[in-house]
Amino acid sequence: MKNNKTIEIYEIGPRDGFQSVRDYIPLQTKLSVIERIIEAGVKNIQVTSFVSPKAIPQMRDAKEVAKFCIEKYPKVNFSALVPNLFGAKTAAETGLKNISYVVSLSESHNRANIRRSHEESLEELRKIMRELPQMEICLDLATAFGCPFEGKKTPEEGAAFLQPFIDMGIETVNLCDTIGVANPAQVRETIAVLNETYPELTLQIHIHDTRNMGMVNTLAAIEAGIKTTQSTLGGLGGCPFAPGASGNLATEDLVHMLCEMGYSTGIDEQELIKAAKYESTVIDGIYSGHLYNIESTNVH
Ligand code: COA
Ligand code: ZN
Repeated sequence: MKNNKTIEIYEIGPRDGFQSVRDYIPLQTKLSVIERIIEAGVKNIQVTSFVSPKAIPQMRDAKEVAKFCIEKYPKVNFSALVPNLFGAKTAAETGLKNISYVVSLSESHNRANIRRSHEESLEELRKIMRELPQMEICLDLATAFGCPFEGKKTPEEGAAFLQPFIDMGIETVNLCDTIGVANPAQVRETIAVLNETYPELTLQIHIHDTRNMGMVNTLAAIEAGIKTTQSTLGGLGGCPFAPGASGNLATEDLVHMLCEMGYSTGIDEQELIKAAKYESTVIDGIYSGHLYNIESTNVH
């Protein structure tokens, strides 16, 4: 089956997945997983985050991870998550040209996650854009659909919240279902409202599989026109600051579905499954993926 549509897969396991693992994952292990992801054909990878090592000790090797990847794989698009100017500057020093700047739609979650008010997060982004004008910045909108402290979020709340960021020059927003509470109707409606309010804005989707909605919500987003989806190899992970959160949708499961539906991703599904199997043997974490558990995944 061929439908001539291409979906950009954005692998974020080395950040969102690894950060959920309590024990430090040795640098070489992290790099070996990242290399297998690249070998499977993935072209966009969030490899780390430049955050306080007190907040997330797992990410203390961010510079080494980023430098290794950039030097060895110049054709792959690497990014990192940053919460502040300090992190953005360090990311730039390693040679990274893309960052995801995280802010939560829910102010309570913003405070729990990065200890900033909305106003302070906006001001921090202004500083980043002033000091690093060449940096490509994606706004990661955490708790875009709901928050553990404030409950459901409406599309209108999201649209109003984004206005000052868009006025500042943000062109890409990643809608993050941080705690996995979205449903397909809500995803569709949110995208429709944002498309109508900001026709020039590029949207991405980032769904946690907490309630087994990773696949349906990501598919709903794709069918609503989103072209770049985020997911983690093996479905490893969760957000340590969102009680009860689990990992993202597993990349290999998503690639399998898209491939069966005739979408093109440029990724070798079997190699990706092998990468997920490998990861699960070298990193002790919580995996929500399905395919990496199956001996043979060939359905033809
Ligand atoms: N990278 C590395 N170190 C950083 C840093 C960064 N981006 N930002 C701050 N720090 C260091 C400071 O140098 C300071 O170090 P010191 O205590 O040795 O002097 C310390 O962290 C505290 O700095 P401060 O600016 O007061 O930060 P804070 O305590 O208010 O924490 C954040 C704010 C944003 C740095 C922190 O909450 C954080 O990193 N959060 C990220 C959470 C996350 O990754 N969540 C999951 C992804 S959504
Ligand atoms: Zn996440």
